[in-house]
Amino acid sequence: MTRKAYIEGLPKAELHLHIEGSFEPELMFEIAQRNQIEIPFQSVEELKAAYEFNNLQEFLDIYYQGANVLQTEQDFYDMTWAYLEQIHKENVLHTEVFFDPQTHTDRGIAFETVINGIYKALEDGSKKLGITYKLIMCFLRHLSEEAAFETLAMAMPYKDIILGVGLDSSELGHPPSKFERVFAKAVEAGFIPVAHAGEEGPAQYVHEALDLLKIERLDHGNRSLDDPELVKVLAEKQMALTVCPLSNLKLCVVDGLKNHPLRKMLEAGLLATINSDDPAYFGGYMNANFHETAEALDLTKDELTTLAINGFKGSFLSEKEKNAYIQKVKAYAAQNKVTFQEVTQ
Ligand code: ADE
Ligand code: ZN
Repeated sequence: MTRKAYIEGLPKAELHLHIEGSFEPELMFEIAQRNQIEIPFQSVEELKAAYEFNNLQEFLDIYYQGANVLQTEQDFYDMTWAYLEQIHKENVLHTEVFFDPQTHTDRGIAFETVINGIYKALEDGSKKLGITYKLIMCFLRHLSEEAAFETLAMAMPYKDIILGVGLDSSELGHPPSKFERVFAKAVEAGFIPVAHAGEEGPAQYVHEALDLLKIERLDHGNRSLDDPELVKVLAEKQMALTVCPLSNLKLCVVDGLKNHPLRKMLEAGLLATINSDDPAYFGGYMNANFHETAEALDLTKDELTTLAINGFKGSFLSEKEKNAYIQKVKAYAAQNKVTFQEVTQ
């Protein structure tokens, strides 16, 4: 089979996905109409044409604007369900989903509206599509520590549903140290800590995320490569990095996928994984991320298999669940040969 076909059939886990970033323009227009909310674009085409970004902030400005049309539990359900249907087609068997409550509570939407819609869709995805999941609540780092504490308080009644806490939004100028106390409180309450670090920010932010926030997984982490000692630490710990190649390309974190550091990460012994981040904005879900990266870096069947295994290894599933999924990947690899690798450029 071709490498593309191999990727499509490969059992995969997604570990870095903002549910608000899966909100496709077509559904956004539909929900805007349903809720009678104006969006400053005339058509889906006009909206899509605005998806050109020079950096993270340019993306975030439009991403938060898109989320404004979400009002009811049904809206959150529909957005989440659409994501699950898509990944089901792509053989993603497990997903760990971020949501940003402050994007919604700041506009007067109740926390429970947000979480109930997302949670009900995830449960349906588990029952009807067989997709296992975890849910991670992110604090918006451009907002205050106090606001993060308020958000954590809102999450407390949902401790059984929310597995972890994360940190996202504008990285530069908002180091992990700003959230040391709120993360300590979240960990004390039983949430697993993760954080975006080293996407645009320096390797120092990755150090802070490890040392101060005590993260158990690193989101992005690209800039860790600037610091060889840090790479050693991450490799020793076998800390998973949730790498997002198409996101990195669209946000100009890399200037071309051919220059993407993914292979370097693998060669350095890092537990790198492939993820889609905000697929509705960055041009593709899991298979597109795998495929375009494979084309650019000429990834081998073995490297692709390792990346898929890393996805399950880096997940927050139990060891038993991880092993069952990893056996599936290995069985798939044993049964399928890649005979043709189409390199297009
Ligand atoms: N929120 C959604 N996507 C993000 C990203 N790539 N970095 C930081 N915050 C985000
Ligand atoms: Zn992200």
